[in-house]
Parts: sequence; structure tokens; C-alpha cells
Amino acid sequence: MRASAPGKVILLGEHAVVYGRPAIAVPVSQVRASASIVPAPPGAGLTIVALDLERSLHLGEAALDDPLAVVAFQTLAHLGLQDLDGVLTVTSAIPIGGGMGSGAAVSAAVVRALAGFVGADLPLQEVSDLVYEVEKLHHGTPSGIDNTVVVYERPVYFVRGQPLATFGVGRPLPLLIADSGIPSSTRAVVGAVRRRWEADPLRYDALFDRIGERAVAARDAIEGGDAGNLGRLMDQNHQLLQEIGVSMPALDRLVEAALAAGALGAKLSGAGGGGSVIALVEAGTGAAVEAALRAAGAVQVLHTVVA
Ligand code: PMV
Repeated sequence: MRASAPGKVILLGEHAVVYGRPAIAVPVSQVRASASIVPAPPGAGLTIVALDLERSLHLGEAALDDPLAVVAFQTLAHLGLQDLDGVLTVTSAIPIGGGMGSGAAVSAAVVRALAGFVGADLPLQEVSDLVYEVEKLHHGTPSGIDNTVVVYERPVYFVRGQPLATFGVGRPLPLLIADSGIPSSTRAVVGAVRRRWEADPLRYDALFDRIGERAVAARDAIEGGDAGNLGRLMDQNHQLLQEIGVSMPALDRLVEAALAAGALGAKLSGAGGGGSVIALVEAGTGAAVEAALRAAGAVQVLHTVVA
């Protein structure tokens, strides 16, 4: 039994989405987390092997706050089981701490592999809800956007607590995703923003409103195939993220390099404080923008198309 889930990027609206404003995220299907499971002898219990992290754990002895153990515990409980005899192997090509939803994708792959192993066909929303429970460990106060986009694997217009809304893409939008190589802790950055919001709610709510307005306008631009306008909205969103204090010089350099090389728009994506920058390009400019991103310090550049 083998299962997987994609990475993701947030096009617009990160952070504000935690406070109820809309955000837009898209799956990145080229990079995935995978989980496969084979039977183990009766009574052996469940062993989880995380190849990239070079660790393995036995569910019966795992720490109760270990994210891999938590996702397994929660899934088994959801399936009405206490344990099962198997060896579950997890791998991921999604950069860890790269703002691309690696934690949510790993969890989704594990849920699917375990469910598939016992012959259960879980609805997407149940998989998403299980992953959300684990996201709480990673994030503290997750909006739910990561689990939603990696489980449904389609572009989402997301408002916390509201049913999933998808939208059409008027024309394919080529996007570059540049990994700054600086790991970011979503929990730490989200916590820092919360403290600033608590200290000055009027200022931060106004910034979140302006970010949310850009997400609404961006959905119209994407549906209408207006890449130029989408690029401008991304630029404005990056400036607002700077104002809420989650960018940093290394990310600003990547954004500036992409724009100077002809990108239609560029911004940090995800929590910030490291992680990734995304750049909207036109078919002919991708190579030049990629070269500029690498020269400005990107350790990896992925090409994807929002379609
Ligand atoms: O850094 P990532 O990819 O986990 O994205 C975090 C997105 C935030 O809006 C900052 C937090 C959230 O829960 O939505």
C-alpha cells in the first residue's frame, strides 16, 4: 500500500488567513510526500521509518507529542483500531521548513497509507480533518489552509471555518518557487505575529484587512487570466508582509532579483522568517528569473504551473 500528497504554496493571504481573512493556495504536485506500508508479523505493532529524517519509531513506545506518532494514533483511533502490525516508511521531496506544507503532506500520506492498508476509503474531508489535528502540533494555531490544499490537491480560496471553495484558472500561470535555504519555524513566526497583534490590534487588523482584499482581487485576476494584475497584487502582498514583520533581507533580495529579471510579481510564501519566495513569470522569462533567483541565493528553484 502506497499513498502520497503534494507540496503547496500560498499565493496570497498567509498570516491574515489565521485571523479569518481569505487566502489562496495551490498544490505543487511535482514535489510530494509518500508513505508505504507492508505487513509485519502478528504482534509486532506499527513501526514508522522516516527515511529523510533518518529516524524510526515504534508506535507502542513513541512520545505522545511526536507528530508522526500523533498522526498514526489519531488515524488508527479514527479507524477504530489501537495498533496494527506493519512497517510504514515515509519519504518526502518537499523542503522541510520551506513554507511548502511538508508537515501537512507527510501527515496526509500517512493517513492515506494507514487507511488504505486496512481497506478503509476515507472521504477527503476526513483526511483533511485528521491532518489538521496534527498541524496544531506544528503550528499552534493553524488556519487549516495547508491540510485543505494538500488533501484536496487543487487551487483553494480558503476562509477559516468555511466550507472549501475552489475557483477556475483563466489561463495557466507559470510560477517559480525559490527556496531561500533558511529554515523557517511556522510556529515561531505565527506566535511572534500574534504577540504583535495583541500589542496593537488596530494596526494589525488593518494590515490583515488589506491582505485579505488582495486575496479577493487575486481570485478575480486568476479567474480572468489577468497575470499582470495578479503580479501587482503579489507585490503589494509582499509589502504588507514586510509591514507585519515576517520578511527578512534574504527574502527581500530574492523578491527584488525576480522582479528585476522580469517577473510579473514576487513575494515570500508561507510563514516567512526563511522558507520560500514565489515569482509569477511569463512563458519566456522563466529561465532568466530562475538564474536571477539563484544568483541572489536561492538553493533550489522549482517550476510549476497554476492551472
Ligand atoms: O509556512 P507554512 O507553509 O506552514 O504556511 C503557514 C501559513 C500561515 O498563514 C502563516 C499559517 C497558517 O496556519 O495559515
